Amino acid sequence: MDPVDELIWDEAPRQTRAVAVIDAPALVDRALTLTDDVRVWCDDWRDARQVDPGLRSTPDDLAGVDLVLGRLPKALAALDEQASAVQGDPDVAYIGGGRVKHMNRSMNETLRRHFTEVSASLGRRKSRVLHARGAKGEPSAWPRIRQDSALGLVIAAHGATFGGTRVDRGTQLLLGHLEVEGRDVLDLGCGNGVIAAVLARSGHEVRARDVSWSAVAATRATAAANGLEVDVTWGDGLTGYPDASLDAIVTNPPFHQGFAKESEDTLAMFTDAARVLRPGGQLWCVFNSHLPWRRELEARLGRTVLVSQDPRFTVTVTTRG
Ligand SMILES: C[S@@+](CC[C@H](N)C(=O)[O-])C[C@H]1O[C@@H](n2cnc3c(N)ncnc32)[C@H](O)[C@@H]1O
Repeated sequence: MDPVDELIWDEAPRQTRAVAVIDAPALVDRALTLTDDVRVWCDDWRDARQVDPGLRSTPDDLAGVDLVLGRLPKALAALDEQASAVQGDPDVAYIGGGRVKHMNRSMNETLRRHFTEVSASLGRRKSRVLHARGAKGEPSAWPRIRQDSALGLVIAAHGATFGGTRVDRGTQLLLGHLEVEGRDVLDLGCGNGVIAAVLARSGHEVRARDVSWSAVAATRATAAANGLEVDVTWGDGLTGYPDASLDAIVTNPPFHQGFAKESEDTLAMFTDAARVLRPGGQLWCVFNSHLPWRRELEARLGRTVLVSQDPRFTVTVTTRG
């Protein structure tokens, strides 16, 4: 347990009937000392895989718990969905912790939409928790959906889905130039599933993959809302895809994990794409123009051609050598 988990645990009551543990895998064993009814919802697959599959839950399973122990998510929409999901018992106590530098007053406001009382603990070791009580009991409005008239698609999103129901500017540039060949195609880092939906509508056999539960559920909802078939999986990068099994990968790749800006995940995906793509297969990519991804793609995968560029975004296509 890190200082945030320790503070959440120290502030938690020891009498409870049913506990929801959200994005805090290190607290699961402690929660099991209080009750057998522990329901764990982790958005990130790398957190979820640390948890006994029998305890893993989704937001739909959380109504009725009387205690919530959670790590505060970075997106307010994600916090809103968490608070909505635990509204079943009017006496539910919510305890959400984070690093002080990542917390802000908007988090209190978001919790106040769902609870009558919200207060903050004293800080300890650069960490703090928010306590919320008095569930207002309003039904959850998640997932949200929006009709995108430019694309002619319905787009769904859960709270932690990248970009919500909007189409990211980089993704717009990519979709404006996308000409994918082949049958077996993957939308890697699928978010709200807009790329997967465009590919499926064009007749490809589409898989979609994301490390975020919220993205996986959103992509399934987007596909269903548009009557499209997409095989969506929750996992890390290209793990589990067989060698030489895909004709194309299309990605607006991650460069943030949690609060830290990172490029490791993206670079690992580029390297592993050489394994998963068939010879001659292509990787379509959009990225922020200041990132050196064209050079990295060239080195890790093969010949990389500039397809389009504006001051913010660059679209490339790389052919597996
Ligand atoms: C920039 S967003 C793009 C989302 C969507 N494709 C779009 O165009 O709006 C990148 C996505 O990659 C996902 N992601 C981050 N790390 C990942 C990993 N290791 N494996 C799979 N997906 C990952 C994020 O959850 C996020 O949904």
